[in-house]
Amino acid sequence: MDYDRIIESLSENDKRVLLSSKERTSIDNISNKVPLDLDTVRASARKLFSLGLINIENETTVNYRLTEVGKRYFKDGLPEYRVLKLLSSKKEIYYSDLGALGLDKNEINVAVGILKKEGVVKTSGNKIILSGDESKIELRSSLLARIDKGGDINGDLVSEFTKRGIIAVSENTKEFLYATPEGLELIKSDKFSAKLVDKLTPDIIENWKGLSFRRYDVNSNIPTPLIGRRNIVKEFISIVKENLISMGFKEMKSNFTESIFWNFDVMMFRQDHPDREILDTFYVKDAKAKLEKQLIKKIKETYENGFKDNDFDLSLGYRSEFDVSSSDNVILRAHTTATTFRYIHNLISKNKDRPAKYFSVSKVFRNETNDPTHLPEFYQIEGIVYDDNLNLRDLIGYFYEFYGKLGIKQIRVKPTYNPYTEPSLEIQGFNEKLKRWVEIGNSGVFRPETLISFGIKRRVIAWGFALERALALRLNLEDIRQLYNPYTDLNFLRGVKTASILD
Ligand code: PHE
Repeated sequence: MDYDRIIESLSENDKRVLLSSKERTSIDNISNKVPLDLDTVRASARKLFSLGLINIENETTVNYRLTEVGKRYFKDGLPEYRVLKLLSSKKEIYYSDLGALGLDKNEINVAVGILKKEGVVKTSGNKIILSGDESKIELRSSLLARIDKGGDINGDLVSEFTKRGIIAVSENTKEFLYATPEGLELIKSDKFSAKLVDKLTPDIIENWKGLSFRRYDVNSNIPTPLIGRRNIVKEFISIVKENLISMGFKEMKSNFTESIFWNFDVMMFRQDHPDREILDTFYVKDAKAKLEKQLIKKIKETYENGFKDNDFDLSLGYRSEFDVSSSDNVILRAHTTATTFRYIHNLISKNKDRPAKYFSVSKVFRNETNDPTHLPEFYQIEGIVYDDNLNLRDLIGYFYEFYGKLGIKQIRVKPTYNPYTEPSLEIQGFNEKLKRWVEIGNSGVFRPETLISFGIKRRVIAWGFALERALALRLNLEDIRQLYNPYTDLNFLRGVKTASILD
């Protein structure tokens, strides 16, 4: 054995552990004695073992402890002992006398049963009669004291006491280390006690002459650790964003919370009307949003009376009162169209002459129950195009381009309803796993009523795509919950190839 080489490969910790293993010692003891934390001792132990310097042995010990019931019996006496005590002075008692002991029926039956089995008593009708040696029962009581002190017990009583819930049994496995003859030999060599440098500092790098260094094996085979990776949803988001940027869209930034005003009012959702229930909303307690009075006024006016152009009625409005009192309530955004309208207000309406294309990929929140196609919190891919002469064909064209880039080819559209778009289109994708069409998006041409308050008269087309549903189609999943806890299979998520959603 080339001791010198081996010694050079040991760290100071390895050496300490080897020294502590001259005699058979448990890892816990070594950890206390050296002292080093348990994991470091274990790591050194594995290494010393692989070098043949120590042996590792597992030893399992069984421990007993008193349960709550056991503790009570230890304090008051075992039921069988207490029954016997009562009996010793009188030689004969009735079952009814046992009531004084404050034991329950089951405890009394067990106690008398044991006394009979051990041959200490006999029963006749309602009578219990002392008939034999009492010492066996005393023995049982002393056992409790032994367990209380952490001592060992064995024999039949262990299983009886466990069954009666008096004691609990647990197993504890300890690792013991002891040096092999080679290990002991190594410790004796002169080199072993010489200190080797095992950490480089700038100082040592400057003054290294004359020092002895620990040897590193750069060829040793180290298992690749299970490292984390980004969830495929996050990777998909990046891909979706890149695709939209390559299609000429700019990203919109937004917050998770929104006011009722931006989530509903600006889009002409009718108040106190089932329209608002399409988006089942989470409210934020005790929060109020700041709103522009001027804009509220305009929205209220359009809501109530519609609008005219060149004295020509283009919309009659809802002809009912718009109540502003709930508009500044705060909610968790139920759709990213709220964000779209903020952009219409802040950017598009200020640069009306220029065409614009914006997107956002962000979370929305709805009070929905988890199921294969619903999550209460999910990503929406919102898109909006503002330009001359846009029509439904353009909208559908964007769907094919967008989903085509993601490799989702089987899509179709069908008419649907939104309070704020007309016409409106639902987008469906074919899920091969479920063998059916599932809704993957919703879209439309914004109604003039929703745009007039922002001074926009041209057409604006927009959509909201469901990101997790699209990813489920791409990965052939039947249930979007496979993408998130608690239904995820981590091995599946670790194994999903990003390439499988790229090509
Ligand atoms: N906001 C709609 C939804 O959440 C999607 C949509 C966006 C529809 C833009 C039309 C226009 O389902």
